[in-house]
Amino acid sequence: MSRPRVLITRALPADLLQPLAAIAEVEVWPQEVTAMPRADLLRRVGGCHGLLVLLTDRIDRDLLDNAPLVRAVSTMAVGYDHIDVPECTKRGIAVCHTPGVLTESTADLCWAILMASARRLYAGQQAVREGAWHDWAPFFMAGQDIHGRTLGIVGLGRIGEAVARRALGFGMRTLYAGPSRKPEAEARTGARHVPLEELLAQSDFVVLTAPLRPSTHHLIGRGELARMRPEAILVNVGRGALCDEDALVEALAAGRIWGAALDVFATEPLAPDHPLLALPNVIAVPHIGSATVQTRRAMAALAVAGLADVLLGKRPQHCVNPEVLPAS
Ligand code: DGY
Repeated sequence: MSRPRVLITRALPADLLQPLAAIAEVEVWPQEVTAMPRADLLRRVGGCHGLLVLLTDRIDRDLLDNAPLVRAVSTMAVGYDHIDVPECTKRGIAVCHTPGVLTESTADLCWAILMASARRLYAGQQAVREGAWHDWAPFFMAGQDIHGRTLGIVGLGRIGEAVARRALGFGMRTLYAGPSRKPEAEARTGARHVPLEELLAQSDFVVLTAPLRPSTHHLIGRGELARMRPEAILVNVGRGALCDEDALVEALAAGRIWGAALDVFATEPLAPDHPLLALPNVIAVPHIGSATVQTRRAMAALAVAGLADVLLGKRPQHCVNPEVLPAS
C-alpha cells in the first residue's frame, strides 16, 4: 500500500518530524521565518492526506476544495481560528491542535509584558541608553503598582488560570469573566466570577486570554474601554481581534486608560507605521507568548503526533472535532 503524503508548511527541527517520516512521504516548506505563499499552499495540497500547518496558514473552504484527499489538519497552535472547523467536519477531516504544552510559557510572557508596561521598562531602558537619565527624581519613570492590585482575566481557560495562579504571588485580587463559572479553577486561584462590566470597572489589569470566536470578536470595544479605570492596563495575549484596535488607539491616545501590553494583533505582522506604535503607552511584542525553545519544540512534537495518529487510524490526544474520528 502506498504511504500517505503529508505537507508541513514550515521548516521544523528534523528530529521532531521522525514520527511522520516513519509513516508518510513528507514534504516540508524549507523556510522557517517566512510563511509558504498562499499560491504555493493551494498548489501543493492537492495530493496530500495530511497537513501540518501554522496559525499563519488560512485553512478555508477554498483550500479544502484543492485538497480532496486530506484526512487531517494539525496546527502547531492552541488557537484554531485560522481553520474553518465546521467545513473540515463536514468533509470528515480531523482538526488537531496543541493545548496544554504552551500554557505556562504564555502565562509567563503575559506577566512579562504586564510588568514591563506597569513599570515602564522599555521607556526606562530607552532613557538610560539615550542619556535621558539625569538625577534621581521623585516621579521619574513612575509606573503602576502591581502587588495588591486587582487583576481581571477575560477567559479563565488553561492560560487564564496560569496567569491567575501567578497573581497569588503578588497578593492580588483576581476577577474573571466568561460564559460559565469555573469552580475548580476558582478554588485553585481564588478568582471570582463577575460580569464583564464589573471586571472592567474594577480591574487595574485587564488580561485577554479568551479564544477568538464569532462571539468574542471585538469583545472589547469603545464601550468596554470606556468602563475601564484611567490607571488600568489592557494586556492581550489571546488574539488581536478580541479588541477593537481603532477604539484602543483612541482610548490610549486620549489617556482614558494607562496603557496596553500587546502580544497579538488583528493583522500580523503589525505594520511598523500602525497607529498603536506611535503611542508611548503601548508595549508591542511579535506574538511570542509561547516562544521558548522548549515550548515550541513541545508544540511541534504534539502537532506531529496528532497528525500521525489520525493517519494511523488512532485517536489523537487533542482533536477539536472528534466526531469525525472512527468510533473507538
Ligand atoms: C497559539 O498557540 O494559539 C498561540 O497564539 C501561539 O502560540
